[in-house]
Amino acid sequence: MSARVIEVALTVNGEPVRESVEARKTLVDFLREDLGLTGSHVGCEHGVCGACTVRVDGVIVRGCLMLAVQCDGARVETIEGVSDAGEIADLQEAFHRRNALQCGYCTPGMLLTAQELLKHGGVPSREEIRTHLSGNYCRCTGYHAIVDAVEAVARARRGGER
Ligand code: FES
Ligand code: FES
Repeated sequence: MSARVIEVALTVNGEPVRESVEARKTLVDFLREDLGLTGSHVGCEHGVCGACTVRVDGVIVRGCLMLAVQCDGARVETIEGVSDAGEIADLQEAFHRRNALQCGYCTPGMLLTAQELLKHGGVPSREEIRTHLSGNYCRCTGYHAIVDAVEAVARARRGGER
């Protein structure tokens, strides 16, 4: 039996995209395999690890739990687009400076999830940062440096010291 193919039209990182996609293909596989946007990673493939995090219409989602066809008409943003726009340059710099990444596999998802927390402004407590990031797994860093980096950026954005 041949796979059902559906045409979708969406924007990805501000660019219009029109593609024929298998109905069963996940959003993260579509982004990686069809569009070559490999910054979104595939870990658990069942919504646990957060490696596949992307934004759809401004809200972070698990790219492995959403089908590409569900994004017809949507605005999708990946780590490539958000990074190129400079939106998270301070977070990226803080992750680098504080060794908040090692292998980097979790990092795109961590950055997008952290940005979702910080875009509302204010300085969350370390507990709030940990809770917000609790759906993103990191096998390398032990999380302390990640929390340090996110906290530092929150303070810096508020105008305090790093
Ligand atoms: S790959 Fe999607 S949550 Fe793990
Ligand atoms: S830096 Fe390796 S999984 Fe987080």
